[in-house]
Amino acid sequence: MNSTATTTCEIDVLKASHRATWDSGDYAAVARDLVTEVAGAAVTAARPGPGDSLLDVATGTGNAAIPSALKGARVTGLDLAPSLLEVARHEAAVAGVDIEWVEADAEDLPFPDASYDKVLSVLGVQFAPHHETCARELARVVRPGGEIILCSWTPEGFIGQFFKTIGPYMPSPPVGASPPPLWGDERHVGRLFARLDVEFEFKRRSVMFRQQSPSVFVDYMARNYGPLLKARERLTPEGRWQELRADLVTLSESFNRVPGGFSVPSEFLLARGLRQWAP
Ligand SMILES: C[S@@+](CC[C@H](N)C(=O)[O-])C[C@H]1O[C@@H](n2cnc3c(N)ncnc32)[C@H](O)[C@@H]1O
Repeated sequence: MNSTATTTCEIDVLKASHRATWDSGDYAAVARDLVTEVAGAAVTAARPGPGDSLLDVATGTGNAAIPSALKGARVTGLDLAPSLLEVARHEAAVAGVDIEWVEADAEDLPFPDASYDKVLSVLGVQFAPHHETCARELARVVRPGGEIILCSWTPEGFIGQFFKTIGPYMPSPPVGASPPPLWGDERHVGRLFARLDVEFEFKRRSVMFRQQSPSVFVDYMARNYGPLLKARERLTPEGRWQELRADLVTLSESFNRVPGGFSVPSEFLLARGLRQWAP
């Protein structure tokens, strides 16, 4: 087997494992309980309306795609995970909007150059492992004069730190894969798009997570949120899950604003990019 074949095979294995991660648990519940407001911020920034064509990359259950279609835009929602697209299809039917749903990879978008007026992604592309490839694809499919809107958990914020806590318990990511929270760093996003004729402006925002207590929150995530559910499945037979759970409860306590309860701000970066007209 030559090295190119090996690389392709490794990427396929990686993508299959990502698909299985997001298909597991109940991401629809997480999207509804924790992410609705973040998606709302992206839609407000994108200002979709009649006449706009809009692509929601890593749409999940259509958290941003459906509200965009309700505002009159012609919308495509793309995701790697078929079970989430099933939920999205159902939710769109309930909302009475017609959306094109596409199962594909954010790193290999199946659309011609300059296909969309607006491309957005809510806590989505940050989970694709090859950041440069993904940035190139986003910039390629948006038309000159069009906009890219991205919401990403920041490295310093609660979910960024949640992933940092999980990291040492899990195998190292494959060569060439970059950590998701980097998309929440202004300089990283600026660098990714520097040669792609997209100029960004940034705002840091927060959403509040509320639960009965830090441990109830961690257990909720371990049941429903694919990345933590997969970590629990892996670490339980090794006898290490309780250790990670305790670390996550400690982290959650350190961010908690309401002693005796759980009320935690989770920071995300709202990045709004304009694709320049060709000189
Ligand atoms: C945290 S969820 C966000 C979903 C949705 N945007 C929302 O706001 O609820 C991350 C999403 O990224 C998708 N995803 C991860 N890697 C992907 C890839 N390489 N290509 C397309 N989608 C991907 C997952 O399937 C999942 O739906």
